[in-house]
Amino acid sequence: MTCHSSLRKTQIAWTLINFINKQIPDGCNLKIKNMRNDKHFLTTIVLTAFILTVVVIFFSINKKPVDKVVEPISVTKLAANDTFRVRPLTNVKYERTAQRLNQGEYLVLGVLECFVCHSDRDWDAPGAPPIVKKYGSGHFFFEDSTSRITAPNITPDNETGAGKWTDDMFARAIREGVGHDGRALSYHMPYADFKNLSDEDLASVVVYIRSIPPVHNNLLQTKIPAGERSGIERSLTPITQPILAPDFSDPKKRGRYLVGLASCAVCHTSWAEYNPGLFAGGNLIDHEHGKAFSANITSDPSGMAYGVEGFIFVMRTGKGGTLSHNMPWVAYKNMTDDDLKAIYKYLGTIPPSQHYISSQLPFTHCAICGLEHGLGEKNKRARPGGIKLDPDLYNLYAGTYLNEEFNSTYTIFREGNKLFGQAWENAPKTELIPQSEVHFLAPGWRLPVSFVKDKMGNVIQLVEDSDAGLVWKKIK
Ligand code: HEC
Ligand code: HEC
Repeated sequence: MTCHSSLRKTQIAWTLINFINKQIPDGCNLKIKNMRNDKHFLTTIVLTAFILTVVVIFFSINKKPVDKVVEPISVTKLAANDTFRVRPLTNVKYERTAQRLNQGEYLVLGVLECFVCHSDRDWDAPGAPPIVKKYGSGHFFFEDSTSRITAPNITPDNETGAGKWTDDMFARAIREGVGHDGRALSYHMPYADFKNLSDEDLASVVVYIRSIPPVHNNLLQTKIPAGERSGIERSLTPITQPILAPDFSDPKKRGRYLVGLASCAVCHTSWAEYNPGLFAGGNLIDHEHGKAFSANITSDPSGMAYGVEGFIFVMRTGKGGTLSHNMPWVAYKNMTDDDLKAIYKYLGTIPPSQHYISSQLPFTHCAICGLEHGLGEKNKRARPGGIKLDPDLYNLYAGTYLNEEFNSTYTIFREGNKLFGQAWENAPKTELIPQSEVHFLAPGWRLPVSFVKDKMGNVIQLVEDSDAGLVWKKIK
């Protein structure tokens, strides 16, 4: 299969791979290519987006620190070139408060796992924790003939680090993917997930990062091929609206926020053409220090068959030190019980998917994802049962559906008495199996789907069944 080199494809590859069953040929996607083939690549460098639309319920926090903003952000000031929209830097200076220092440290060492990438790690200790004395001082990942990936030194060292950068240079890099020097950053920096970080959490992260001890460490900058860079440039969107934290008193909303920031879906949702399901695992995360298949973390018996206490134990200890360092539990272990419980609760809202996986047992063919992995032989592709519908109904559903967030289309069509979906010409077809007049199982797609009708009975949307799901608008 040839590489779809269009910019849109690149963008989709990066942003949608975990959402939609698109076949991304080897070589089209740097991350996956690296994860699969590049032995020198640290796999926690991730990545694509697990983009959750955060339902925001603003709850007021006691007294908010006052930040000095000299120049407000204005959308009209965005660069004229609409293929690379960058907002100008502001002079914002986040007020340094003790609360922000604490919260920033908590986020950076925990769910955001900044130092897992931006520091050297101790490969002899379980989980390979970042080395404390090297926190933030950067890490060189790999280099080949076309690319070099380095997580830069972000300590306040004036010569080799970020001593001379401004607060907004950090803020814009973290959430919007634009470096201090105005260039589009490689997707290995997970700004696509961090874009949902609330303004207050962002301020805390910046305040904390700028308070850590400077470390002198000179590293060569990341280098990416021009084609990839322009694909990234087109995918970037400046943030010009306030981003509020979700209602933390609601564990599901809290869990969803954290799961999105931690990029769990990037590793734990299959990149295979036939998707075993959202969070159903099965990606080989390959690294010079060892390989492991990401686990099925849905609530299915083949997934996380332990309760919340078991989950907290796994996350805190790396399953008693047995989990691969390719799972960044050394960062997640720093989360509070309440945050971990919220994550568990949120994962429990995801439709369970059957997909047995082990990295320890001998590798056997898996009929679901198509790879060879431990317990592969236990997995069967079964066509679920459905109800009988008048196939003429399918004519109403047939058409083209657009997801605006990713500017990506999906086609629904009838073949005989069956309904199918397809992401692009020649892509694998997914049969939609009716469970009700509007609700369909879609094995091989990451979630079941439903059609939404307006009052007149016209089909207007295709939605994935989960609040982590995507919405597609019927356009034809
Ligand atoms: C998965 C690995 C990874 C994680 C996690 C990560 N980064 Fe990065 N980061 C990178 C890489 C790689 C780059 C270099 C991108 C480039 O230069 O194109 C980068 C770039 C940056 C930059 C831009 C530097 C510049 O030149 O302007 C900043 C700032 C930054 N990261 C801060 C953070 C912070 C803060 C966190 C945690 C909230 C974080 N990063 C988490 C990998 C990571
Ligand atoms: C960089 C990739 C990556 C990210 C990000 C990631 N994981 Fe993992 N995870 C893995 C891999 C690989 C394994 C399997 C490790 C092994 O078998 O030793 C794993 C294993 C697990 C397990 C253990 C399952 C078991 O019982 O064996 C749990 C639970 C888990 N991950 C939850 C999460 C959650 C929750 C998040 C987000 C907060 C997350 N992971 C983020 C790669 C990742």
